[in-house]
Amino acid sequence: MVTAFITVSHKVDGMARPLLKWAGGKRQLLHEIITRLPSGFSNYWEPFFGGGALFFSISEEFCAHSYTISDINSVLCLFYETVRDKPMDLAEYLAGIEYHNTPSEYYEARSRFNLLDGKANPVEKSGLLIYLNRHCFNGLYRVNSHGEFNVPFGSYISPRMPGRNQIMEASKCLSRSTILNRDFQDILTEAEEGDFVYLDPPYEPVSQSSSFTAYSKEGFNRDQQKRLSSMLWELDNKGVKFLLSNSGNEYLEELYSAFKIVKVGARRNINSKGNSRGNVKEILVTNY
Ligand SMILES: C[S@@+](CC[C@H](N)C(=O)[O-])C[C@H]1O[C@@H](n2cnc3c(N)ncnc32)[C@H](O)[C@@H]1O
Repeated sequence: MVTAFITVSHKVDGMARPLLKWAGGKRQLLHEIITRLPSGFSNYWEPFFGGGALFFSISEEFCAHSYTISDINSVLCLFYETVRDKPMDLAEYLAGIEYHNTPSEYYEARSRFNLLDGKANPVEKSGLLIYLNRHCFNGLYRVNSHGEFNVPFGSYISPRMPGRNQIMEASKCLSRSTILNRDFQDILTEAEEGDFVYLDPPYEPVSQSSSFTAYSKEGFNRDQQKRLSSMLWELDNKGVKFLLSNSGNEYLEELYSAFKIVKVGARRNINSKGNSRGNVKEILVTNY
């Protein structure tokens, strides 16, 4: 049974905002994505959740039977569980956080974050994730081969931390969601006819120097892109609708050529130093 409906005339301003800056975050493309969402579906699935720009902007408008969001990044999933289940504790921790906007305090917070067991201390771990995300270089999340967060200090003049209201708003959006920490393939096998999946996998680099695909130590290479494309065929065969966003390039356009592809423009960082921005083409791929 298809019951979720959304209003596509929706404005981006005034919607719930993502709590984290995330490489590849879709805030700039929201309008293009929202106008192309299917008008009705049963269950909502988002297996590459990241900062969740689309979910936070529209979840209040959905009345799907269920919402399943997932990401391979376990710290990120713990963070969203904490926002959903302990928003007041998290807001209180952030209001009293002892780290300020200096390199020494940043590196102290980073060491503490890497040592901290998130299962035993979910509020502190999640609060530190927000602090690091807002004070690190370009809001990146990057880990070394031991899985330790290693992004340098960002030198922002006055980084803004989310306040209590923004946390409560995000918590409300997440309150109806199942949050999983799994590979996309595990999640997608569970989607059924009449469901909708929004997929925003790591980008194919737009140039040799822009490999921003290593959100986790596993990375996302062409074998993963192929694995994802065969999952799309499985979804299509089951009668599941999907919308996938990615960078536009010949390889991906060929990989998805059997589906409907539209090209849209987006401004984003185009090199690994994050100091060069440009207009790049993104593709939106749908099977409806
Ligand atoms: C482009 S980002 C998603 C951005 C998100 N749409 C937003 O608005 O912020 C891609 C996400 O995919 C996750 N990811 C990478 N490989 C994955 C895998 N094999 N399974 C599930 N998630 C994965 C990364 O951790 C990252 O958060």
